[in-house]
Amino acid sequence: MKPAGRIGVGVVGCGEIAQLMHLPCIAELDDFSLAGLCDLSAGVLARLGEQYSVGATYRDHRELLADPAIDAIVICNNDHGAIVADAIAAKKHFIVEKPVAFTLEEAASLPRRATEAGIVGMVGYMKLFDPGFQYGRERIRTLGAPTSIRVHDFSGRFDRYKSLYTQTLPADVPAAVLAEGKRQIDLRIAASLGAKKAGYSDLYTTILMLGSHDLAVLRSIFGPPARVAYAQAIGPTHVLAVLEYAGGVPAILEIAFGTRYEWWDEVVEVRSLDAEVRIEFANPYHRHHTATVRVREAIDELPSERMVPGTPDTSFRRQWKHFAAAIRSEEVPVSTLYGGVSDIRLARAIIDALPPKAAIDVGSRGEAIAVSQ
Ligand SMILES: NC(=O)c1ccc[n+]([C@@H]2O[C@H](COP(=O)([O-])OP(=O)(O)OC[C@H]3O[C@@H](n4cnc5c(N)ncnc54)[C@H](O)[C@@H]3O)[C@@H](O)[C@H]2O)c1
Repeated sequence: MKPAGRIGVGVVGCGEIAQLMHLPCIAELDDFSLAGLCDLSAGVLARLGEQYSVGATYRDHRELLADPAIDAIVICNNDHGAIVADAIAAKKHFIVEKPVAFTLEEAASLPRRATEAGIVGMVGYMKLFDPGFQYGRERIRTLGAPTSIRVHDFSGRFDRYKSLYTQTLPADVPAAVLAEGKRQIDLRIAASLGAKKAGYSDLYTTILMLGSHDLAVLRSIFGPPARVAYAQAIGPTHVLAVLEYAGGVPAILEIAFGTRYEWWDEVVEVRSLDAEVRIEFANPYHRHHTATVRVREAIDELPSERMVPGTPDTSFRRQWKHFAAAIRSEEVPVSTLYGGVSDIRLARAIIDALPPKAAIDVGSRGEAIAVSQ
């Protein structure tokens, strides 16, 4: 379905990233009208419904999907797979925040089903729309054969954004409901990883929640890797991996969640025999900032270093504009579900390259203990 006028959008999961980034983009772009909100929290729905003048609020995403005013949704809760499947069945276009789903079993058939339904389904890899990244990617493509590829992502602090922006928190959702949701995710991940690797649940989740952006960035520059040559769990949420590419040099990938940096520490570095391109991503929680790019190369046989500053733009906003153009068949979707599923497959391959670590055992005080085999 291609809406003739504004595209009616519903938001599923109206938490931090929806409030900070998606809702402002939807509200300010002429392509869209905010047509519905869905969250477990009645308090969040009441506050945001008033703020954005939206009367259609739902506690269940299936009711939102049944609303004829909804042409498209953005999926911003934490557990996406089943909601993606329901959006496809309802023939609604969607952006799903990463990851597409927590397990390959849930995700594998979704791209084909979305294609058959004739809808646009995009993964919220907004960094692919970052103009600084896009410039850096073009420069990398002109480097010639890379001699070194390195991707580093140490996330830094996540507790700053509640004071940086005004947020409405889902304080009225019972803790038991949230705990049960988390338990269901953990059970599915453990079952998917299998008994010999279930001890890496936290690491796998880190790769999906944080590192999948980097897997998508690497994929968009070099295509999917041929295999994972090496992986090491440096800590429960810190992984080092070496990805091999057919006919090319390997990429060294390091991802860690839990660092306490006040800055955002996410860098792609590619070197050739003559030059180096370094893309430094901006903090994704900061509006109007994009990646900076440093290029080192010889000019007239003299060394030079050039810093291309980020432009005052917001990757999320550019992602939404692209989503509108894709729904109207004016652009081909660049952040596809197929890519999102291949990133889950790669996350699994990284875990599979690690030595066995058995299922979580429950200690005497109720704490989870990973037991190495
Ligand atoms: N693209 C990015 O850079 C980026 C950054 C942050 C988060 N994210 C992604 O966005 C998603 C949400 O992250 P967040 O930090 O906003 O989380 P959050 O916990 O702040 O918000 C989640 C919201 O979803 C609601 N919710 C939970 N289950 C629901 C359900 N079944 N139906 C409707 N609403 C439900 C909760 O009440 C809460 O308001 C995650 O998947 C995360 O990976 C992406």
